[in-house]
Amino acid sequence: IVGGLYLADREDGCPFDEQDRSRLERFATQAALAITNARLHRRLTSLAVIEERERIAREMHDSLAQVLGYVITKASALRELLRQPERLADAERHLRQLEQAARDAYADVREAILGLRTGLAPNRTLLETLRTYLERWQDQSGIAATLVVEPSDDVLRGLQPMAELQLLRIVQEALANVRKHARATQVTVKMVRLDGVLHVRIEDNGVGFDPNALERAKYPRFGLATMRERAEAVGGSLTINSRPGNGTTIEAVIPLGVVPVGVDGGEHARLDRR
Ligand SMILES: Nc1ncnc2c1ncn2[C@@H]1O[C@H](COP(=O)(O)OP(=O)(O)O)[C@@H](O)[C@H]1O
Ligand SMILES: [Mg+2]
Repeated sequence: IVGGLYLADREDGCPFDEQDRSRLERFATQAALAITNARLHRRLTSLAVIEERERIAREMHDSLAQVLGYVITKASALRELLRQPERLADAERHLRQLEQAARDAYADVREAILGLRTGLAPNRTLLETLRTYLERWQDQSGIAATLVVEPSDDVLRGLQPMAELQLLRIVQEALANVRKHARATQVTVKMVRLDGVLHVRIEDNGVGFDPNALERAKYPRFGLATMRERAEAVGGSLTINSRPGNGTTIEAVIPLGVVPVGVDGGEHARLDRR
């Protein structure tokens, strides 16, 4: 029970009849639906906020905290080396590593800021958001990024808000990996709608890797695992296709399914199949 409706008298003084009763029942059902949907929406928003915080914390840990720790260690090693004139060459090597670490962190943080500034906005479609993100990412990373969609106008129709958010984050994480690991010159994000399912591929022409040989022992890796969890959280799946020397393709498959009545406006409230 969501709530109660209390009615006193009819305006014309007549008693309530059967028709009033059924009309009121319909009204109550609609009201209950609207309230439930509003609550769901609020819950979704707060879940998204919690998740975002977790992601920011992780990003700060992965990039900033790690690199600053490294910088501190390097700096004290450097100070030692500078005391020994015969070890100037070593000192310079350490300095170069220090500079590289700072450059990497700079790129990470700039990308993270771009990511944080990119979210679902009520006045923009996800496609527009993705397009802008890709342009900015290309400018920052220096890697040519292309967005391909089929069909061109409504490839994302029927994608639920939660799935939209997950899709956005999957693309961002995949692109972050391209920038950090692939040494690629090109990346293509391709979204194809096929039989009520959305296929999203992020394909780079970089160095590739062996997905089965990821070092378990090293510092825990989150990116690929999180991408998979995100796809699965919205009923989809994720596959990694990569071979050393052969580029990498990440493919997420996300169902474009039924949208619950009322959650996203009546017009989408149908089985979305082409
Ligand atoms: N596009 C890519 N090109 C080359 N290597 C990749 C790519 N994506 C992922 N990798 C490899 O897979 C590893 C795991 O990726 P991920 O789970 O995102 O962790 P992280 O990015 O923190 O290292 C990376 O360290 C890298 O070796
Ligand atoms: Mg990663």
